[in-house]
Amino acid sequence: MPLFYNPLEAAAHRLSVVPPMFDYFGAMGLHALVAAARTGVFDALRERPSTAGDLAAALGLDPHATGVLLRALTGLGYLRVRGGRYRLTRTARRWLTTGSTTSLLPGLVFWERTARVLWPGLEQAVRDGAPARPFYASLADDPELSRSFHAWTAAVAARQAPAAARRIPVPRDARLVLDVGGGHGLFSLALLRRHPRLRATVIDLPDALPPAAAHPRLTPRAGSFLEDDLGSGYDVALLFNIVHGLNDEEAARLLRRVAAALDPGGVVVVGDQFGDSLMPGRASRALVHLLDLNYLVTVGGRVRGLAEVTGLLRAAGFGRVRHRRPLGSPTTELAIARKPLR
Ligand SMILES: C[S@@+](CC[C@H](N)C(=O)[O-])C[C@H]1O[C@@H](n2cnc3c(N)ncnc32)[C@H](O)[C@@H]1O
Repeated sequence: MPLFYNPLEAAAHRLSVVPPMFDYFGAMGLHALVAAARTGVFDALRERPSTAGDLAAALGLDPHATGVLLRALTGLGYLRVRGGRYRLTRTARRWLTTGSTTSLLPGLVFWERTARVLWPGLEQAVRDGAPARPFYASLADDPELSRSFHAWTAAVAARQAPAAARRIPVPRDARLVLDVGGGHGLFSLALLRRHPRLRATVIDLPDALPPAAAHPRLTPRAGSFLEDDLGSGYDVALLFNIVHGLNDEEAARLLRRVAAALDPGGVVVVGDQFGDSLMPGRASRALVHLLDLNYLVTVGGRVRGLAEVTGLLRAAGFGRVRHRRPLGSPTTELAIARKPLR
């Protein structure tokens, strides 16, 4: 929530005069956003500022309840009100309207579903050290969770892939890219657009793959990157948002398999959140730690620091690891290394 304490409120929290109510109420803020998105409030206010009554009439909602929702959203920093007319703040316009090119609405649906379906297993995961139920099994049983997960990863990738592709050092005579768990294929597509001689294979679970017609030089392949043959002769391997979803043994095994699939001199790119190199600041650290908790309760993976990822790459046989932070991709950083020539 785009909420900032004023000095008096901050002091009250520091001195613990008030209880940590925002954490108790945090889930309510999420549900308020989901209700507003699903009833069309954000999109309608993008068209024109409106009173609660006019908005309720236009969207077929209860007028009193609409006013209550609008006031809550105003308090949370998503709306402003003047003379009884509500308008979107820049945050709501940018991230929460369907017309916006930076819309992360699919993420709202995914995170709400994740909080509702998967996070109740947190207590058990903390007792056991592993998720109560494997994430991909939950996706198979829950079409909305599955749809929203793939829509969310695609929405994030659409923003980040062009910047990431600019930072990937593709060898001059490279021909083949392996996109490991590449899902929608958007990271490969960004690379193919920059390098007309490249072809890419995206390996992923069947439901995640793009259609074969997505691009003439992109081949979707259904399979498990941990179990099935990855093929060989690749010049570049992409692992975007993959390593955080694996436990230590799986991560080490996957990187060894990727090293074996690359030709000597081939480049591996791990794109992920590196917990130890993000923006300094309590709020950023808190977000990373919550994400770490999310990986624990959902996939049984974790946020790793750059040093840990470097260690995994070196143990798999890769050479010096370079760290890149693509502009326009604040949360996904790159660790890039080459397979030695011999
Ligand atoms: C967090 S998503 C990342 C997708 C894409 N690389 C990106 O960064 O947007 C993880 C992907 O790995 C895939 N995946 C998970 N386990 C897999 C496995 N054992 N074999 C193949 N794909 C797998 C998922 O289906 C999903 O598409």
